[in-house]
Amino acid sequence: MKEYKRYLITSALPYANGPVHIGHLAGVYVPADIYARYLRLRGRDVRFICGSDEHGVPITLQAKKLGCSPQDVVDKYHKIIKESFEKFGISFDIYSRTTSAIHEKTASDFFRKLYDDGKFIEKESEQFYDEEAGQFLADRYITGTCPKCGAENAYGDQCEKCGSTLSPDELINPKSAISGSNPVKKKTKHWYLPLDKYESWLKQWILADHKEWKTNVYGQCKSWLDGGLQPRAVSRDLDWGVPVPVEGAEGKVLYVWFDAPIGYISNTIELMPGQWEKWWKSEDTKMVHFIGKDNIVFHCIVFPVMLKAYGDGFILPDNVPANEFLNLEGDKISTSRNWAIWLNEYLDEFPGQQDVLRYVLCANAPETKDNDFTWKDFQTRNNSELVAIFGNFVNRAVVLTHKYFDGKVPHKGELSEMDRETLACVASLKDSIERSIENYRFREALKEAMDIARAGNKYLADTEPWKIAKTDLGRVATILNVSLQICASLSIAFEPFLPFTTEKLRQMLNMDKKPWDVLGSSEILEEGHSLNQPQLLFSKIEDETIAFQLEKLDRIKKENEAKKANEQKPAYAPLKEECAFDDFMKMDIRTATVLEAERVPKTDKLLKLLIDTGIDKRVIVSGIAECYSPEEMVGKQICILANLAPRKIRGIESKGMILMSREENGKMKIVSPEERMGNGASIG
Ligand code: MF3
Ligand code: ZN
Repeated sequence: MKEYKRYLITSALPYANGPVHIGHLAGVYVPADIYARYLRLRGRDVRFICGSDEHGVPITLQAKKLGCSPQDVVDKYHKIIKESFEKFGISFDIYSRTTSAIHEKTASDFFRKLYDDGKFIEKESEQFYDEEAGQFLADRYITGTCPKCGAENAYGDQCEKCGSTLSPDELINPKSAISGSNPVKKKTKHWYLPLDKYESWLKQWILADHKEWKTNVYGQCKSWLDGGLQPRAVSRDLDWGVPVPVEGAEGKVLYVWFDAPIGYISNTIELMPGQWEKWWKSEDTKMVHFIGKDNIVFHCIVFPVMLKAYGDGFILPDNVPANEFLNLEGDKISTSRNWAIWLNEYLDEFPGQQDVLRYVLCANAPETKDNDFTWKDFQTRNNSELVAIFGNFVNRAVVLTHKYFDGKVPHKGELSEMDRETLACVASLKDSIERSIENYRFREALKEAMDIARAGNKYLADTEPWKIAKTDLGRVATILNVSLQICASLSIAFEPFLPFTTEKLRQMLNMDKKPWDVLGSSEILEEGHSLNQPQLLFSKIEDETIAFQLEKLDRIKKENEAKKANEQKPAYAPLKEECAFDDFMKMDIRTATVLEAERVPKTDKLLKLLIDTGIDKRVIVSGIAECYSPEEMVGKQICILANLAPRKIRGIESKGMILMSREENGKMKIVSPEERMGNGASIG
């Protein structure tokens, strides 16, 4: 395997249109952070780059919804996201933003160089335009029915239901997301990156040279490449974004998916103005992009083509370990439906418990398929793994050392077979963890780290030092020495996964941070070394806590259902033309009672009614059979237009019309006086 001098780790720049949730964390930031922390612990030169993605339609749509400017939106969420990442221990070397001056310049210059080098195609085409709003409808500004799965609210760039990438032209029944109106087509000029020209190069680079990529990533790339690539527009008609730096491009900005990945570069420049090129333009750098599955095409195809087209020695990612999606309690996480666990809220509600969430999200990471987060599982993993295995082992080792040896690491005598086996097991788990992390299998790595604690727990259960303290304190000393070495190993092995816990553990062991290679050694803590007082690493999560969270989700579910019911409220027919008073007065409306009713043969809708108008008895044919049965109608008091000219319906003479109230969806009810009146009473 190639030895790299530098590791450039990027994680997808989150849109600053809302806080970060557990789906983002499990898919992208937790694995990226584990990888970065692991490499640092191994003494590698690492830069972990991220920032907010502040352009694009997701931001302007949110601004419209909140009734403020796009800048207000990104200022608000950038702050929330940045602070919550920090509190959660995501160890970025920089978390910047794409509205920074450095980014605007870097992205603008990048475009300009490709433009000057003739790498773009300039093309006029017809695009959807909202005449009411006076605006072109790019990407999420247009919604319609997904041509692939039939979902109704697909965006112009993507269907969230089935995950298909779409173009606005493919949508069935396209509608403007701004005004809801039907868009028209209008001509506009844009710049396109001719991905098709890079197809054979991409096939070589991905399909032949990167067979080691995760199957979900490789598979998506293959299907894109097999399907044939098309030129892709890299500009948009919008007023929010990096302006297209070309004459005659007023009112046009860079497509958000063009400027955002350049954010990785501009944030590196901001972090290391004098040295960034060494990181981006040297074959000694290993670059890894951590992303979710909806970002694969942009990171494996579009951005690499941009870098390749730019030339000038830009490196490409060595790997793109994209994850699938995390669901919440069996339902797709959704920002618009508020169906998520938001990081900022978790941090407020579970103070000091960052590592529990880090643990559960890594243990359940959607590495090969979509996965589910449930609060019950969160509780179980905490109580029966973190508390019962890791916490319990460390606690017993430290408490017993205080009890028998005054809190000092006791003397290690001759090692028994079991001592040696246990230590060898820890050492071999070190190798397994390395292999797993280096191959982006973080769930497995975490399980292997936990196996160290399991081995320690089993070791104490088998050797039972508390039972032999009276007879053989020398043996107890050896057992506790071995146990404490395992505790020290745990503080290293878990550092990438649970940084808050390992800090606490080191404090308890009175130990400095040690490099990765010390893991598994039987000599980490010297004899006579003083420990600090024991403290609990984890605490039990009670049923009430979980019930509280589940109730919260239940409330959200109910709110969503209510909202949905509201949206499905019937629409009503538009108002008819004005009617003159005299015209209205011509109508003779009266009360009447149904005497007899029967279906009109061979029709679904018609009832033939014999009614008593108080003046006469007459027949009316009415189209209410879908809403009322003949039996229901008999005896009902109704209102009729009594002087309507007679009409023949299905050969039956109908004299008058029954007044009905009618919703657009077809629901109908007869109109009757609030209380029964005599027949023939006039209405008006
Ligand atoms: N903001 C995008 C998303 O949330 C990710 C952008 S990643 C970058 O899906 F490469 F473009 F920066
Ligand atoms: Zn779809």
